[in-house]
Amino acid sequence: MDEREKMRSITVGITGASGSIYATRLLQRLVESPEVSRIDLVITQAGVRVIGEELGVNAAGAERRVVRELTGRDDERVIIHPPSDIGATIASGSYLSDAMIIVPCSMGTLAYIAAGITRDLVHRAADVFLKENRPLILVPRETPFNAIHLENMLKLARLGVRIVPAMPSFYYHPQTIDDLVEHFTHRLLDHLGVGHEQKTRWEGSRKKC
Ligand SMILES: Cc1cc2nc3c(=O)[nH]c(=O)nc-3n(C[C@H](O)[C@H](O)[C@H](O)COP(=O)(O)O)c2cc1C
Repeated sequence: MDEREKMRSITVGITGASGSIYATRLLQRLVESPEVSRIDLVITQAGVRVIGEELGVNAAGAERRVVRELTGRDDERVIIHPPSDIGATIASGSYLSDAMIIVPCSMGTLAYIAAGITRDLVHRAADVFLKENRPLILVPRETPFNAIHLENMLKLARLGVRIVPAMPSFYYHPQTIDDLVEHFTHRLLDHLGVGHEQKTRWEGSRKKC
């Protein structure tokens, strides 16, 4: 396969659930990747608010600066779309993008997608991925889940959406929050089909039972 055929174009939605650190780490890894040709990014208004609360970065109206601050570079492969721009490229099925991830995904956005209602560009792009049968990955974050959340997730899972909740694992003995975030980000890259050098892949128990 020629190098260009392996290049991935990824759509990223960031919504107002807790866990913006996962979104920013994923963006960092995507912009570092030589396999990624383009990143279409949408941050909802609530997403901007939570980034401010959790990371202390004021993203309102300054998404490009924030991406530069959070990823450490100003990369022309990152195309930022306002959430209100329902005429953006990613609102159309004729625009090709290999996979979409919403990280973190609020229960509100999850409900809109499950109901097929498109009130902003994140909902619309997700709806397009569903209708075009392209990979759609949601990273929901809430606890506890109520029955509406669970029903919405089940409905979407049955439609082929990958529900990948931000649930850390501990079998590889993480020492820091950074370890947890990095390990989970690698799982997300796996779902997006983007290569990485994970050092914490499970290779079976080293202890003989
Ligand atoms: C600091 C903060 C943390 C939040 N955490 C969550 C959360 O973990 N999960 C969730 O579903 N909503 C959470 N919310 C509420 C959502 O931001 C709210 O429902 C919002 O309307 C979602 O809009 P969006 O889906 O367009 O981003 C949080 C809000 C704030 C301000």
